[in-house]
Formats: sequence, structure tokens, C-alpha cells
Amino acid sequence: MKLLFVGFGTVGQGLAELILEKEEQLKNDFGLKYSVVGISDELKGSLLNTNGLDLQRALESVKAGKKISDDSDDSFDGDALKMIRQSGADVMLEATYTDIKTGEPAVSHVREALEQGQHVVTTNKGPVALFYKDLAELARQKKKRFLFEGTVMSGTPVLNFIRETLAGSKVQEIKGILNGTTNYILTRMEEGLSYDEALDKAQELGYAEAVPDADVLGWDALAKVCILAKVVFGADSKPFDYPCEGITGITASAIADARNRGKRFKLIGKVWKERNYVKASVGPEEIDLTHPLAGVMGATNALTVSTDTLGDVTVIGPGAGKKETGFSMLIDLITIGNK
Ligand code: HSE
Repeated sequence: MKLLFVGFGTVGQGLAELILEKEEQLKNDFGLKYSVVGISDELKGSLLNTNGLDLQRALESVKAGKKISDDSDDSFDGDALKMIRQSGADVMLEATYTDIKTGEPAVSHVREALEQGQHVVTTNKGPVALFYKDLAELARQKKKRFLFEGTVMSGTPVLNFIRETLAGSKVQEIKGILNGTTNYILTRMEEGLSYDEALDKAQELGYAEAVPDADVLGWDALAKVCILAKVVFGADSKPFDYPCEGITGITASAIADARNRGKRFKLIGKVWKERNYVKASVGPEEIDLTHPLAGVMGATNALTVSTDTLGDVTVIGPGAGKKETGFSMLIDLITIGNK
């Protein structure tokens, strides 16, 4: 399997470390052998070698604060689209930054790779939340896979769980904590920190971005909700079609007051079907302390799936992180290798 990395930031590097660490296991357990033919990153430089390049060395360069193209014979002059066209890759691994309003540059990368007959694995929420239908159709036409397990709850495999493990069940509602930063902030506020102090801590720990709007205004959770609405309920929507409220209006006294009434504030993303319409929303809700979602604290994510067969099933796990999100791409790679 010839792999091409487009985006070699935290997530791309997380996957690279995992496939190096698990090279033997992948070969023995799944007969999966791979070579990396290209890496394209706007900041870290680009490499192309259709016979396979040195992934370990690329990781070491990044760790040393150098560009991967510094002192390399495989240095490539051109953008990701050019690399996709020239790489001859079997799988394009897309892990550039998410832009939930335009989906770019990831959407163009995904389209081009599928056009070139490459399978696509992405952790980027933009292309799925905005253009799932078109991209899935293009993948079908090209008889390639378009997989994105990591877009919702990183490597905690909720999409596979709903689509495959729960196959045969009717899903009535999905509701969960889909953003780690805001859950961490609410947890720390309940412990007595102010909103600003909790946000500072979240930034210190690397959960929140330097500009934390996408997390605290609910947009990140909204993108995930939109992906669930499309993939599980077949909705044809865009993220901002749904009501969305973040956590910026929640005060410490409202949290304490809820606590006294046996409730806890959570930023809840949910999708459900009402008659023939798919409804979805993101917003703060007071959850009863007896509900499994109420016990999910810190940066952890969780999703409760209401089904006609099992009633409620709740999956709890990481929703972000280098290894965790890298692992989501490994899940998808194994799926492609198994076909
Ligand atoms: N910033 C997100 C979160 C992680 O805090 O959950 C990536 O979706």
C-alpha cells in the first residue's frame, strides 16, 4: 500500500509514529505492508519518492525543528495537488487544518485524490460536514473508499460502531459530548475556576486553540453533529443550518445552581429524527446526574446512541490527541487493506 501524507502536523505525525511502531504487527495480523511515497505540508516542507521515502527521518527532522525537505534528495517543489497527481499513491491521508466554513484546502485534496483513483482517509471535518454526499458519490463512482473515522471522537470508533457494529438497529437519537475543550472548561468551572481561568488552563494543556472560538462557540461540536446527521440519518445539510450555542454564556453561579438541583451543565450535540425531518442542535444542557453523560469529565468525549434494539448505548473515550487521532487513520487504513 503506497501512502501519501497531506498535512504532517500533530495528527499526521501521530499516524506516522504508529505505523512505524506497528509495522510488524500490521504485516503479521493483517498482511498489510506499506511504503510512504509522499509527504506534503505547507509549513514543514514536502518530499516525494515513488519508490518509498524514509518516514523515520522525516519525523526526526520535524522533532529537531527542521523542515522535512532540508538536506533530502526527495525534496519536492510543488503543492499538495501536484503531489497527489504525481505520487501514484494508493491512499491519500488528509490531515490538514479544518475550515468548517469552506472546507478548504482539504476538499480540493480529497476530490483530486479520488479523481486520481486513490482511497482517501481524513480526520478533517470540513470536507465531510460540508460535502459528504458529493465526495461519497465520487468515491462510489471511482470504486474507492472515503473514510473519516477520526472526524468524530478521534480514534474512539463511534462511526464504525454505529454504521457497522450496530447494523440492523434503528438509531432514534444520538446525543453526546463531542468537544473536549468545552467539557474540560465546564469541569474546571464546577471545581471553582472562573471561565477565563479554565480557558487559560485548557490552552496551557493544548486542548484549546490560541483562538478558541471554534471550540467555545460550539462550532467544532456542530461540525461533528452535522457529520453524524449526514452519515447516520442521511441528512443533506450544512453545519450552520442547525442551531448552535457555545458555553460562553454559562456562569459559575449557573453551574453551582444546577449542581444543587442534581444536574450538571454539558455542551450537548444531538441529532434526532422528527417525522421525516432530521433535526440537530448544539447547546448547553442541564443533564441529570444519573445519566451516563453527566459523569464524563475533563477533555473526554462520549456519545449515547438510542436504538430500537438495545435502548441506550453510551461510548466514552478520547476525542482528540496525537496518538488517538493518528489511530483513527490506522483503523481506516486497516479497513481499506482488508477489502
Ligand atoms: N478541539 C477539539 C476538542 C478537538 O477540543 O475536542 C478536535 O476536534
